[in-house]
Amino acid sequence: MSMSRIKIFDTTLRDGEQSPGVNLNKLEKLEIAKQLERLGVDIMEAGFPASSKGDFQAVKLIADTIKDTSVTGLARTTKGDIDTAWEALKGAAEPRLHLFLATSPIHMTYKLKITPEQVIEQSVNMVSYAKQRFPQIEWSAEDATRSDWNFLAQIIEKVIDAGATVINLPDTVGYTTPAEYGKMFHFIRETVPNIDRVSLSCHCHDDLGMAVANSIAAVENGVTQVEGTINGIGERAGNAALEEVAVALKIRSDYYQYDTGLKLDEIKRSSDLISKLTGMYVQANKAIIGRNAFAHESGIHQDGVLKNTETYEIITPELVGVNSNTLFLGKHSGRHAFKDKVESFGIELTDDQLKEAFQRFKQLTDHKKEVTDDDIYTIVMEIKTEA
Ligand code: KIV
Ligand code: ZN
Repeated sequence: MSMSRIKIFDTTLRDGEQSPGVNLNKLEKLEIAKQLERLGVDIMEAGFPASSKGDFQAVKLIADTIKDTSVTGLARTTKGDIDTAWEALKGAAEPRLHLFLATSPIHMTYKLKITPEQVIEQSVNMVSYAKQRFPQIEWSAEDATRSDWNFLAQIIEKVIDAGATVINLPDTVGYTTPAEYGKMFHFIRETVPNIDRVSLSCHCHDDLGMAVANSIAAVENGVTQVEGTINGIGERAGNAALEEVAVALKIRSDYYQYDTGLKLDEIKRSSDLISKLTGMYVQANKAIIGRNAFAHESGIHQDGVLKNTETYEIITPELVGVNSNTLFLGKHSGRHAFKDKVESFGIELTDDQLKEAFQRFKQLTDHKKEVTDDDIYTIVMEIKTEA
């Protein structure tokens, strides 16, 4: 069975940095860029060069340093933004530009205050202008999921003729659903006559908690590039979490024949670094990389996992660079996991001692939220010395 390659476009350093309260300096951005290169992303969006002097310098530093991953930067459809982006990106191994303009009625009327015809004209002109320098140009229809599909088809055909190489249809406000987003890509592929000349890309936000599901629906409908961020950070509720997309495609390779080039065992390291440098802590129950993603608390689950990990684990911790699973000892835990913990201390208890120790441990869980290894060790040693 042959696998289709899905490209991973990481925007942790651009959309991810747009998370409220996050501000990375250029050395921090470079450190993250190096880790993204080790993770094996295909494209990294290093920033928005025209947005500030600091971001310009960061994008330039990354473009001049990173050679195994394609580096891109965001630009509005203006000559000024494109020229600035070129200055920042010209040292990259494969300079790539990400141009965007909104196509939804609400954005055109209230934000841009221009007509749909002007949106087409501005996009076409600026793609042609950028093409004089950039070999690779991604054009994004901002707020695509609230845009008229026939209008999208019309403008996409024209920007492809002007030289765009990737067409991205973002769900800018996290509004769509998997079925609808999939249908939109299907419609565009069926309707735009020159669509085979470009790659299609998806870019999802998580306002309704569907960013990862929407990205996978897009892939099922011919999209070959997925955009997102590590840990799902980004504007408002964030972007599609790339580690979730990549691991879902891997774990369900019995169903999906798609392969991302990510080195999955670099996921945990990437997540930790980004969390540390952005100050955005990962929630404990976050899929793939949360503290509890490989932790089991209830006695029934712990017993199952001790007999065969596959009873309750569909992902091995090692796959994503986590050392091992953990059996969290709390009020729902059973004798089996407790015995296992005592044995891990290298201490032998008789059956009666173990029974007594387990009872004292259970009493403690009624008063203490988290029973630590030290607590258990103390109980065990008390019983040993009482003997
Ligand atoms: O969400 C969005 O629409 C964006 C664009 C700039 C691509 O981030
Ligand atoms: Zn976005």
